[in-house]
Amino acid sequence: MDQKQCIEIFRRVGIVPVVVLEDAKDAVRLGQTLTAGGLPVAEVTFRTAAAEESIRAMSESCPGLLVGAGTVLDIGQAERAVKAGARFIVSPGLNRDLTAWCLERDIPVFPGALTPTEISEAVCMGLTTVKFFPAEPAGGLSMIRALSAPFGMVSFMPTGGISPANVRDYLKTSCIAACGGSWMVKSSLIAASEWDRIEALVREAADIVRECRPAVS
Ligand code: 3PG
Repeated sequence: MDQKQCIEIFRRVGIVPVVVLEDAKDAVRLGQTLTAGGLPVAEVTFRTAAAEESIRAMSESCPGLLVGAGTVLDIGQAERAVKAGARFIVSPGLNRDLTAWCLERDIPVFPGALTPTEISEAVCMGLTTVKFFPAEPAGGLSMIRALSAPFGMVSFMPTGGISPANVRDYLKTSCIAACGGSWMVKSSLIAASEWDRIEALVREAADIVRECRPAVS
């Protein structure tokens, strides 16, 4: 899967669940729940010791799920993530070395870029889609719209502060590839094995995508 195909999947799914797994034993069940609920993508953050094993378990046991790694800060983590089965890499900021490492290997990569300088640099590296993080504190949709004027060739993946209350406006905006969010996969729900509740929240999110993007669903 190349960068373009990955972006197409993100655009179709609409919302990328950002997952923090404390215990890899929950990974497969969570992956199945995401798939059953209609958001078959997981950005598993490299913030916990369980990330690598969780990516491996999900990749091996959840065939319909697109599994990637988030919060990847350096090449070493990217190597471990890819070896475990991650099919895309998300980073909170624009790390040139990490981004180049992924591009050289045809691994879809979505670094964070918030300013004209950072977006410009991402474009120069050959990217057309960047993560926009932390989206709401950094100005949200009005900031993205303003950036879109000079960067009409760029699409954004806003993440941070997105919820059912504001996700519709993002999804209806053409320069938004997909939104990232954790509200449907909160750590507290995972820790309590609230799988039915998680699936209901995932379904609700998938319904919002269909409502806002009828042409692509
Ligand atoms: C993150 O990296 O934590 C993501 O931005 C998720 O943010 P959220 O919890 O506000 O959805």
